Amino acid sequence: FLYVYFLVDASHSVTEPNFNISKQCLEVIITRIASFDVPIRFSVISYASRPKTIVDIQDDIAEDTEIVIEKIQNEMNYKDHGNATGTNIQDALDSVYQMMINEKAFTKVPWDKIRHAIILFTDGKSNMGGSPTKAVRSIEDFLNVRANRKDYLDIYAFGVGTVDVDWSAMNEIASKKPGERHAFKLNDLKELKAAFEDVLDPRDLHDICGLANNSDSASWEQKNPWHTLTEPSCRGALISKTWVLTSAHCFSKFNNTAGWTVILEKGRRIDHELFNVKAKVAQGIQEFYDYDLSLLELEKPVQFGGRIRPICLPCTEGANRALKMKPGATCKDHELQLLSLEEVDAQFISLDNKRMGRPTCISAALQDKKMFSEGTDASEVVTDRFLCSGGGRAVEAATCKGESGGSLFVERRERLFQVSEPLNVSRPCHGETRETVRDPPPANHKPRDFYISLFGVQDWLRQHLGQSLRFIPKE
Ligand SMILES: *[C@@H]1O[C@H](CO)[C@@H](O)[C@H](O)[C@H]1NC(C)=O
Ligand SMILES: *[C@@H]1O[C@H](CO)[C@@H](O)[C@H](O)[C@H]1NC(C)=O
Ligand SMILES: *[C@@H]1O[C@H](CO)[C@@H](O)[C@H](O)[C@H]1NC(C)=O
Ligand SMILES: *[C@@H]1O[C@H](CO)[C@@H](O)[C@H](O)[C@H]1NC(C)=O
Ligand SMILES: *[C@@H]1O[C@H](CO)[C@@H](O)[C@H](O)[C@H]1NC(C)=O
Ligand SMILES: [Mg+2]
Repeated sequence: FLYVYFLVDASHSVTEPNFNISKQCLEVIITRIASFDVPIRFSVISYASRPKTIVDIQDDIAEDTEIVIEKIQNEMNYKDHGNATGTNIQDALDSVYQMMINEKAFTKVPWDKIRHAIILFTDGKSNMGGSPTKAVRSIEDFLNVRANRKDYLDIYAFGVGTVDVDWSAMNEIASKKPGERHAFKLNDLKELKAAFEDVLDPRDLHDICGLANNSDSASWEQKNPWHTLTEPSCRGALISKTWVLTSAHCFSKFNNTAGWTVILEKGRRIDHELFNVKAKVAQGIQEFYDYDLSLLELEKPVQFGGRIRPICLPCTEGANRALKMKPGATCKDHELQLLSLEEVDAQFISLDNKRMGRPTCISAALQDKKMFSEGTDASEVVTDRFLCSGGGRAVEAATCKGESGGSLFVERRERLFQVSEPLNVSRPCHGETRETVRDPPPANHKPRDFYISLFGVQDWLRQHLGQSLRFIPKE
């Protein structure tokens, strides 16, 4: 359990524009914390000479992210503090202390298991009520954080915007822990967002799917922790501790899993039994990529952490929690959430390891002469399981040879969901790993690629992954 208390300075020294920036910061942080699937309660207080409680940790709505954000937008104003624009941090912290006392008396949650984070938006300067450290001591004593319980309380101080922070005061209020930073001066929301990622401890985030690290200092692996290389020529997506989803065509030339060294470990492979690239040669379709899917089972389960995490597979319980949908939601509901629009912003990972935006399209184009020879019935080639991309925007990236097998994914609620799998692409791109140059499409051709929708192969996924992932009902 995590309880988070926000204290927002509305005093004269902070000024209204900076107070407004702090309000936006709260929204960003609340949304991010709420994406982690941990049981959580929020409290919000603004303060100048006196504190004003916007959300009490005891309120029923304290666990409802959306209502908490709404209250911040509607009920928290710089002007609430009238002319009483002094700065009394001690009193504000004391309100938190009182809330803790009340909450402990009533909560059904085992009190010792709750971790508390106090997040101040302030310039650190206080001119009323005496030193804030006294209130901090009371809170520490009450939570018994001395001894081995240092992890149960963190106090952060953020100065955001043009505020002139008093560093020694900020550092005095903020927690002091070896190797961790608790006091920050940041210029804007973007810096706040990146800095907040750094204070999060990936050990607390357990085995959740679709979580990427947005920190500026995060490594490529931390930003794309599900993405695997399936050398020599494909990519794959980690979907559980033991399974990687990739394309079946990757293996037609290299029928030897022993050669696939960069997969996390060597293991078993299951191709979709209906994949047959030559299935429709008689109909004039030289290459047919329906069911172009393989599952690779790793010999040993991987250990999840900041650098290795699965992407969310739709229609699983993990994806359901990440989407914040009610228990009892169905696969159909997930499809509506993730692919409901005619055009969906989706991304894939390019050879040069960048994420690229792609709007998917619904109707297919008969421009690839290998897939569509003259007179081919488009519905023979592009079946119900296909998604296609491109067409929407003027200049678009297309997938390159070698990028197939990786995931096409969409972002919802700060989490990532794989919706499909790029198909075999013959288009060569130059400069393999560094800066991949994407050839423009031929004249009069729109860049357009095809993908297998994971919603169209549910039976196969359920048959093979049923032991490692919990699926929700199809309808
Ligand atoms: C701060 O936000 C309030 C409420 O949205 C708005 O009325 C006010 O004009 C803003 N002030 C500044 C200086 O941006
Ligand atoms: C704030 O100060 C102004 C000018 O000094 C005064 O007119 C006003 O009544 C004061 N407002 C409050 C809420 O005290
Ligand atoms: C994100 O990466 C930074 C830099 O490596 C690290 O300090 C932080 O703990 C990571 N956060 C998460 C949530 O993994
Ligand atoms: C994938 O595309 C390449 C280039 O067109 C082709 O040589 C290869 O045979 C294709 N793979 C399969 C399984 O058809
Ligand atoms: C791949 O290997 C398996 C097992 O050795 C064999 O049955 C199959 O025919 C091979 N497929 C190709 C396309 O060579
Ligand atoms: Mg002040």
